[in-house]
Amino acid sequence: MTRIGVLTSGGDAPGMNAAIRAVVRSALARGAETIGFRNGWSGVMAGEAIHLDSPAVGGIIGSGGTILRSAREPKFREPEGRAEAAKSIKKEGVEGLVVIGGDGSLAGARLLSEEHDIPVMGIPGSIDNDIPGTDFSIGFDTAINTATEAIDKVRDTAYSHDRVFVIEVMGRANGFIALDVALACGAEAVLIPEVPFDLDGVFRKIDEMRSMGKKSSLIVTAEGAIHASRVVMALRETADVEARPLVLGHMQRGGSPSAYDRILALRLGSLASNRLLSGYSCEMVGVERRRLIAHPLTYVQSITKKIDPEKLLLAEVMAS
Ligand code: F6P
Repeated sequence: MTRIGVLTSGGDAPGMNAAIRAVVRSALARGAETIGFRNGWSGVMAGEAIHLDSPAVGGIIGSGGTILRSAREPKFREPEGRAEAAKSIKKEGVEGLVVIGGDGSLAGARLLSEEHDIPVMGIPGSIDNDIPGTDFSIGFDTAINTATEAIDKVRDTAYSHDRVFVIEVMGRANGFIALDVALACGAEAVLIPEVPFDLDGVFRKIDEMRSMGKKSSLIVTAEGAIHASRVVMALRETADVEARPLVLGHMQRGGSPSAYDRILALRLGSLASNRLLSGYSCEMVGVERRRLIAHPLTYVQSITKKIDPEKLLLAEVMAS
């Protein structure tokens, strides 16, 4: 293999640029060149290809977003869309593809490979950290640090005004961000989609805390559990407290990647590039117990990542 391709797909995540840099420079070290496809799978289908040499990926290690841009492309979910993408990959002379993105993007990569015999290598890139087969996906560490910093500031106002703040973090189908952020901020309650919750029970607890002198509280909710505004409305109906919602939203996806995310991205980018060039395909690289691994995409897509029960218990004990 002398020419590989790289793209970023799905929601952007801090550290994607560091991963692109690692893919390109590791390939160059083995005498191969890299073509970058712009705008995720849409760009692959439309043939939006650019040559990425070493200077093209210089100065990007600390920048957020993705220099290749990203997109969610519903057409790629259909066989016709993937056939279009395969045609343009072959036209560019690209012999294998590194895909940086979330579970949907990696599932698409596998189908493309199976249907059109194109070697692919996946890199988990998503702030959600919901991709199985790796302890961390690129962007999660930065996102939880960004949210923690924002919530620490809100804690000051909550304390000064005896208020309850309900803070909504990202995670439409899971609570990985919410749980880690709740632990890091010392939240009084955390609501996640994986665990049934009883709002009345949460409110009773807040009430008890208030009667014992703790007048301010933070409730962290994952967007996929319940929206912050709904919790605030319910709280206002039930209790005599001043409550405010705060949706952190896309600020969690932006910003300069943390040192952890940069190094993770470099390690995963380099491993993906090297494995692809060594003839491996249909794998996702990742990190488990601090060690780099590569799992077949079939395995990754057959399992679900679970919330850590030890962390859940810890959040409950710390808030009591
Ligand atoms: O998958 C990453 C993520 O940020 C989710 O946490 C969130 O629900 C979703 O993307 C938002 O997507 P969009 O930017 O397309 O609205």
